[in-house]
Amino acid sequence: MSDGRRAHIVVLGNEKGGSGKSTSAMHLVVALLEQGRRVATIDLDGRQRTLTRYLENRAKAVAEGANMLMPSFAVVTRSEIPDFHEAQADERGRFLGVLESYVDNHDVVIIDCPGSDSFMSRLAHGCADTLLTPMNDSFIDLDLIARVDPNDHSILGPSLYSELVWEMRKRRARTGGTIDWLVMRNRVGHLDARNKRRVSEVLARLAKRIGFRVVAGLSERVTYRELFLQGLTMLDLGRTGQTLTMSEVAARQEVRTLVASLDLPPVSRDAAPLVSAAE
Ligand SMILES: Nc1ncnc2c1ncn2[C@@H]1O[C@H](COP(=O)(O)OP(=O)(O)OP(=O)(O)O)[C@@H](O)[C@H]1O
Ligand SMILES: [Mg+2]
Repeated sequence: MSDGRRAHIVVLGNEKGGSGKSTSAMHLVVALLEQGRRVATIDLDGRQRTLTRYLENRAKAVAEGANMLMPSFAVVTRSEIPDFHEAQADERGRFLGVLESYVDNHDVVIIDCPGSDSFMSRLAHGCADTLLTPMNDSFIDLDLIARVDPNDHSILGPSLYSELVWEMRKRRARTGGTIDWLVMRNRVGHLDARNKRRVSEVLARLAKRIGFRVVAGLSERVTYRELFLQGLTMLDLGRTGQTLTMSEVAARQEVRTLVASLDLPPVSRDAAPLVSAAE
């Protein structure tokens, strides 16, 4: 950063596939760029490359004349070296190389993890200042965070992913750092109020026990699936003068509320987007 501070690192993580990590990452990127922050992204899902493809679609629209802000972006792929230890050293070197190249000249680095456990995903979790875990509103998704008694919904203990975060928090603590862990519900439906309430109740109890903050997430909206090809987010809609639907207005508000709940450090006064929009 221009004032000597290093970038704030936000990791999107959840070993459950399809929970909304890449969609949320993309919306965070645009919201933070709009605040005047210099944003960079690292995509660790070298197979699907969802965030990278989303940003490539956006870059294409910008190249064709759209006036939209862009972050710096990179993808770090899994190592192809057969030897286990050499592969890990290779991945560590390339991941930290990209991260280091971003932290001094950006305000926020957003890292999108794959929907499965991997060495690089763990490395990223260990670097997080903020960890944002989107989850669908169901006990299937909750199962990766904690084991819950099927009869009375009491908490039996943490599950795989919480244990991983616990481990990463201990590592961070050794170097004097902390990880602010936020769990957000994604694709929240308007139907099935009973399931929604039950998941909410369990999450509130888990938050205290495991040590995360539950933050308001994003509702289920078909538009999220349609924006990808044009590289657009909910926040870009309406810029060219078309009237927003009620649903789009509500969606934008949800994104802004989510960004506010991250509680990021204030924007430094002289910061300007590193890669600005085409005029
Ligand atoms: N709030 C939402 N409303 C409707 N569809 C959504 C919403 N959030 C995400 N989706 C859709 O759900 C699917 C999975 O989302 P996304 O790719 O963001 O998840 P992911 O956690 O990154 O997945 P993976 O673990 O495979 O990387 C996509 O088709 C996306 O368009
Ligand atoms: Mg993804």
